[in-house]
Parts: sequence; structure tokens; C-alpha cells
Amino acid sequence: MSSIISYPDRGHWGKSSYRGNCSGHVYKDLYQATRPNFVVDPCVGGGTSVEVAHDMGIEAIGLDLHSGFNLLSDSILSAAGKPSDLCVSHFPYHDMIVYGGNVHQVIHPDDLSRCESVDDFIEKCHLALLNQREAVRPGGYYATLIGDLRRQGKYYSFQSDFIARMPADELRSVIIKAQHNCWSDGQNYQGRFNKGLPRIMHEYLIVWQRPEGGVSLLVTLVKMSRKAHDQLWSTWKTVVRHAMIQLGGQADLKTLYEAIEGFADSRIAGNQNWQAKVRQTLQRAGCFQPVERGIWKLAS
Ligand SMILES: C[S@@+](CC[C@H](N)C(=O)[O-])C[C@H]1O[C@@H](n2cnc3c(N)ncnc32)[C@H](O)[C@@H]1O
Repeated sequence: MSSIISYPDRGHWGKSSYRGNCSGHVYKDLYQATRPNFVVDPCVGGGTSVEVAHDMGIEAIGLDLHSGFNLLSDSILSAAGKPSDLCVSHFPYHDMIVYGGNVHQVIHPDDLSRCESVDDFIEKCHLALLNQREAVRPGGYYATLIGDLRRQGKYYSFQSDFIARMPADELRSVIIKAQHNCWSDGQNYQGRFNKGLPRIMHEYLIVWQRPEGGVSLLVTLVKMSRKAHDQLWSTWKTVVRHAMIQLGGQADLKTLYEAIEGFADSRIAGNQNWQAKVRQTLQRAGCFQPVERGIWKLAS
């Protein structure tokens, strides 16, 4: 398997009539690369992943909302009965195809194709990925197949949100898959907002590996929240530095506040004490120096 895959033929596995189904060759290649003895798919849809596994002599269980399993409230590990070597998912791509009530008849508020917003979708997928991670043995793999979405001219690359939210040191592979005969052809991508921008013809298969040492979920979540904190601090440093560059490399606090308010309002809206945060950044970031009281410049 290489980091770019393309299968014009989906193979005989699963149901070609199940909308948004995936080529069985994706699973075949993934199983050959990760060599699992036991696979779980918590969004099995038309059953492609499980049929491929059975053909290859691999034990496999498929779960889905359509058959009573909700990966946002039920433990995959408990449903599978034992830790798996690979837990692979293929979530809906937000509401590109609405499953409950269309593809199957189970209408449920936790249907990932019925999320109220993109943020809601990403938050729920994060929860689902953590559930997948819990379902694999130490050293086991968890993976997901996800596409991008363009909506009213705005581009959403869900893969980047997933990668940012999951433990960075567990990421093992990002594979680009060419899309063939997409359901979304002529639906979302060619709308009037597309304005000739490239049509989306690829998806991503992202593969993580749970550490051998069996690191607890709590330790992982603490590490992830520290990373998010560091990223926020680094963003403040960049915001203040950018403002200082725009102001010629030196500015008094009042001018600096005005410049920052002008371009960073969404960040500021979330932080009541943003002016104090600017002063703290000037004092601690190491790339600014005081000129006189209330006046700062970029450090030389
Ligand atoms: C893209 S399809 C999977 C297609 C599958 N890979 C195939 O080849 O047929 C996504 C599936 O996720 C399921 N799903 C959506 N929300 C879910 C949830 N909360 N829990 C479990 N499954 C869910 C849908 O019912 C749908 O079958």
C-alpha cells in the first residue's frame, strides 16, 4: 500500500447500492498493511469492511446505527466483546448523504449525518475516534476514511480537524484515496458557489496506533489539552507580532490594542481579558522589548 490509492472498481464486497459505500480494495490494502486478526467497524453501512475481512480469513464485527449501535453512546469495546487489532470507521461526511430516513429507516439524534453544524459534526467525530481508540489492544490500529466538503464556497477539510484533535504521536499514516463515481458529483461540488474551483475528487484514510504501553485515556486527554493550550499561546504570540510588524516594528499599547482588535476580533470575543493577554505576551514571548513605559518594539 502506498500513500496514494485509487480503485476505479469497488470489488464485489458489501452493497454497491448502499449510498456512500466504499471500495472493498481500501479495506483489503489496509488489512494487508496492518495484519489484524480481529477487526471492528462501528459504522459498517452496507458491510464492505466485514465482507473483505471474512474473505481474507479475518474475524470481523460490523456495527451501525441502522442495527441499534450508537458509537456516540455505546462502547465499541463492549459491543465487540474483546479488544480488536484494528478498528476502522467510515463516518458520513457531515450531511453530504443523510442516512437516517433515507438510506436506512433509523432516525436518531446521534446520526452523524444529521449534525446541526460542522462544529457539532467534528466534536462528535472526535468522541467517536476516542471510542475507536479504546476498542483496540495496546499496539493496535484505529483508522477512519473521511472526505472534504465545500459548502457555499467554504472548504471544510475534516481530516485536518481529526488529526489536530487526536494524539499527534499516535498518527501513523495519511493516505489519499482518489474518489470515483462519487454520489456528490453534481450535488454539492458543482453548485453556484464553486466558482470554477477544483472539484473534490479525493478522500483520506487516516491511521493511528495505540501505544504499546497502554497509556490511559485520561493521560492522553491531558496531553492533548496541554497541546491545545500551547497552540493558543503560540497564536497570541503570532497575533501580537503580526500587529507589531504592520505598525512598523514599534507601537504604544493603545495603538497596538486598536490594531489587534481590527483583525483578531473573533479570538478577542472569546477572551474577556484580551488586553491583559496582549501585555502578558509582550512581556513573556521573548520577541518584544520595552522602549519606554507603554511603548514596545520587536526585539532586535
Ligand atoms: C459512509 S457510511 C459507511 C459505508 C460503508 N463503509 C460501506 O462501504 O457500506 C456511514 C455509516 O455511518 C452510520 N452512522 C451514522 N451515525 C452513526 C452513529 N452515531 N453510530 C453508528 N453508526 C452511525 C450510518 O448509518 C452509515 O451507515
